[in-house]
Amino acid sequence: MTTGSAPGKIILFGEHAVVYGRPAIAVPVMQVEATAVVEDAPPGHGCELIAPDVQRKFRLANAPTDDPLAYNVRETLRHLGVSEPDVTITIHSTIPVASGLGSGAAVSTAITRALAAHLGHPLDDDSVSALVFEVERLYHGTPSGIDNIVIARGQPLFFVRDRLIETFLVKEPLHLLIADTGVPSPTKTAVGDVRAGWEAQRDYYDSLFRQIGQITVMARGAIAAGELHALGALMDGNQWLLYQVGVSSPENEGLVRAARQAGALGAKLSGAGRGGNVIALAPKEMRDAVADALLRAGAKNVIATVVN
Ligand code: PMV
Repeated sequence: MTTGSAPGKIILFGEHAVVYGRPAIAVPVMQVEATAVVEDAPPGHGCELIAPDVQRKFRLANAPTDDPLAYNVRETLRHLGVSEPDVTITIHSTIPVASGLGSGAAVSTAITRALAAHLGHPLDDDSVSALVFEVERLYHGTPSGIDNIVIARGQPLFFVRDRLIETFLVKEPLHLLIADTGVPSPTKTAVGDVRAGWEAQRDYYDSLFRQIGQITVMARGAIAAGELHALGALMDGNQWLLYQVGVSSPENEGLVRAARQAGALGAKLSGAGRGGNVIALAPKEMRDAVADALLRAGAKNVIATVVN
């Protein structure tokens, strides 16, 4: 029996603009995780996938080509150059779906890790990430690649699509609250709508993306210097730009406002937007008060995490 696991993730700065070549900052969220357990099955059984959380149980041989779980397994087997093994793969995840926490990429990462290791070919993090990126393309259409790499490496990253993946210094711990609006937001739809807007008004959108990129670079500096008030202000600035990009929603705005009023240093949507999650940076001593305010303002769930 072999187990693979992967954390969730949040994007601190730069979502959407990252698809257009601007930098973004993402961090893993260790409080939630996806796991895959691979066990040997009798000869002739083939490969079976079981995902009890979503009531799914099926044979690889019977799955359609575009099923993301099956595609993930097939891509992994193809990469390893092995034929379909006799195994069962059981998948669990505590990562909320379609809310900006990278649930799809984490499930894929857990499966690829567990399956490769079980078949005697353990893969390093970047190889797993590259395989998961192919699966993400099926979910998203044009993913930037940030989700798969931050989830595979499990560490905070400064990322520029196709160009740069860097770790960075975190001088003061960042106490973050992740508040779920309860509104599912499929990334593919939001990313597609932003693309349609960009195609109609390129100069306007390029200017917003450029400003988001500048904020992200400043945010990296603020994190390295431990300037938490400046960092909070940069989150607010990023949120204002995301609003103009058209990916905020009344639910996102309501939670952002509640967090700021309760003493957060800054707050913004995280991920695709149009619902999903909002993140708030709180002074350590205000963390519980901000979490309570988010719940009172309608958050369906609040996760506290620390980046250090
Ligand atoms: O998967 P999410 O909801 O965290 O969104 C991904 C972030 C985007 O920048 C909107 C898309 C991408 O591929 O980077």
